Amino acid sequence: MESIEKIIEEVLSDLKDASTNEKVSEIRVKYLGKKGLISGLMKNMKDIPQEERPVFGSKVNEIRAKAEAAFQEKTNKLKEAALELKLRSEKIDVTLPAKEVQTGAIHPLNQTYYEVRKIFVGMGFEVVDGPEIEYDKYNFEMLNIPKDHPARDMQDTFYIEDDIVVRTHTSPVQIRTMLKHEPPIRVICPGRVYRTDDVDATHSPVFNQVEGLYIDKNVTFSDLKGVLAEFLRRLYGKSTVTKFRPGFFPFTEPSAEVDATCALCGGKGCPACKGAGMIEVLGCGMVNPRVLENCGLDPEVYSGFAFGLGLDRLTNIKYGITDIRHLYENDVRFLKQFR
Ligand code: PHE
Repeated sequence: MESIEKIIEEVLSDLKDASTNEKVSEIRVKYLGKKGLISGLMKNMKDIPQEERPVFGSKVNEIRAKAEAAFQEKTNKLKEAALELKLRSEKIDVTLPAKEVQTGAIHPLNQTYYEVRKIFVGMGFEVVDGPEIEYDKYNFEMLNIPKDHPARDMQDTFYIEDDIVVRTHTSPVQIRTMLKHEPPIRVICPGRVYRTDDVDATHSPVFNQVEGLYIDKNVTFSDLKGVLAEFLRRLYGKSTVTKFRPGFFPFTEPSAEVDATCALCGGKGCPACKGAGMIEVLGCGMVNPRVLENCGLDPEVYSGFAFGLGLDRLTNIKYGITDIRHLYENDVRFLKQFR
């Protein structure tokens, strides 16, 4: 009987030192396994006098139950300890200051374009797209710029093949639109254009234009002036003054170049407008009747105006950017300012 009592003490002391589930299993085998010490006690039954056997048997069962309970308790404790460890490691200190979130910025060229688009869409214009690799025919010829025309020198062209160029302006989209759609036509077309210019503060071999085209019956030069003056007021503010200077483009007649109050100095004169208080922002004109004819439209029936604005120029004026290269170098320190 005494040795039976001793076994349970041993079980308890073994368990006390066990710190892992594996160790607990080992101890369980040692005592409660088929060949374990407690199971072994039953084998002594035959050596015990008949009358003491029931007492002995129930004692062994009692010990077995105690041992089982002790193992259960130990297993629970280990489980709890593991859980606590897990919770501790997952603890979050909600009082810590938050990490700074790095948000991106919309590129200034896009910001300007979105504004331009919103204004023209508000006036009923639709946005269309055109290819950057273009037929000479669309980029020049149908725009009334034949092969030997001196106006070709105005635009230094990247040629891909004899009759295929990288577009030098967005005006070929005028042709594509008129060939495809009947008037009334009211479209703008944004896009990259290319010229063989060397890079400096004001030149880049790739830059951005937004083309506009309006064709209908009875469209006049005063429609052109009204739309563009209103556009510039909406872009740069109500007090913006516009000046239409006579200009020349082979595909418009008459043509004009448009200056607007310098948005940087408000007209007082600053380095950006070279002291003039006004700055050139776009080229425009009434679509040349020959261009209408080239596209199968009768100039006796239809008239219209077109314009092309330099998005880079508009952006630089708007934000006071003095070097066009900033727009293309993707320097994060520059771009971050437009968040
Ligand atoms: N395509 C001309 C240029 O790039 C701009 C322009 C467009 C002028 C439409 C008049 C009408 O210089």
